Amino acid sequence: MTQRVLVTGATGFTGGHLCLRLAERGYGVRVLVRSPEKAASLATRGVEVFQGDLKDSGSVMKASEGCATVYHIAATYRQEGVPDQEFRDVNVRGTQHALEAALRCGAERFVHCSTVGVHGHISHPPADETAPYGPGDLYQETKLEGEKLALEYFRVKGLPGVVFRPTGIYGPGDTRFLKLFRHIKSRRFHMIGSGGVYYHLTYIDDLVDGIILCGTKKEALGNIYILGGENYVTLNEMVRTIAEILGVGISRVKIPFWPVYAAAFVCEKLCKPIGIEPPLYRRRVDFFRKDRAFDISKARRELGFDPKVGVREGLKRTADWYSEQGLL
Ligand SMILES: NC(=O)c1ccc[n+]([C@@H]2O[C@H](COP(=O)([O-])OP(=O)(O)OC[C@H]3O[C@@H](n4cnc5c(N)ncnc54)[C@H](OP(=O)(O)O)[C@@H]3O)[C@@H](O)[C@H]2O)c1
Repeated sequence: MTQRVLVTGATGFTGGHLCLRLAERGYGVRVLVRSPEKAASLATRGVEVFQGDLKDSGSVMKASEGCATVYHIAATYRQEGVPDQEFRDVNVRGTQHALEAALRCGAERFVHCSTVGVHGHISHPPADETAPYGPGDLYQETKLEGEKLALEYFRVKGLPGVVFRPTGIYGPGDTRFLKLFRHIKSRRFHMIGSGGVYYHLTYIDDLVDGIILCGTKKEALGNIYILGGENYVTLNEMVRTIAEILGVGISRVKIPFWPVYAAAFVCEKLCKPIGIEPPLYRRRVDFFRKDRAFDISKARRELGFDPKVGVREGLKRTADWYSEQGLL
């Protein structure tokens, strides 16, 4: 019999890719989405679309009925300028609704998407799953609260589950790095700070492989896994690689970090009360300051996780997709 699984966050980048792979593998995929219109292309691929909202426990309960596995991918993440309460309502309370529904509906496994951001800045790179928590902003704080809730449901309430923490996700379909690519292409990119900090990417197809391993491997139950690419790079290396792929040179000008951070702080303070997205905000600027380099050996050893797409290849595929879409 086809096994039914529930995916949250299916109208987003990661959840969308995950749904398609699960459907290809023969699972009966149901998605909980706020906007069925956004899930129209998934519906044409045989995915069952259920309209609901993580903030509405009743809809989460109904969506969970009959699902053996729940892949909880949704989060408030991309948008800036959203009220602080929204981060708590979705990343904490919404997660609790998903956990409670899975428990009550007798799900055999709950796969919870956290983030390496729960560790914040990594002072001794690379960090593994035992590194201390150190969230650096509201998004990371609420993701940490969501992760802790999931672990509590696993340990105290007996819900079988797994937590995975992805590193920076990228690939065709994502537009988070588009601005960086555009700035490099138009030679308007200037490094903020030294560019010597590490960044760890995970290519979407590799991540989806890892998520499904978390959802299917017996050994995974009760564990936390960092899922990232094979290598991490410095920001200087990443920018140089993108510039080479795009066939452009890079500026050698480096902008000091702290004045930009202070400007981001002011932008946030001015824009938030009037509800407009700040052109610059601290989380974006932190990208240039925080070391994020991780050790993925636990996932390799215990799950057989084997990321295949290297940074250069992944960035090339991303650039090609931006060009095909007319974005670059
Ligand atoms: N991207 C990264 O580099 C990165 C790194 C580490 C961890 N993560 C984690 O990975 C996951 C996926 O990230 P992503 O980049 O793929 O996210 P994304 O593209 O921003 O997608 C977020 C999804 O969550 C859904 N969602 C938000 N609020 C909801 C609510 N109240 N009810 C139901 N659905 C709701 C969104 O639905 P709508 O379409 O209706 O808005 C969307 O489908 C997140 O948990 C994120 O924290 C991401």
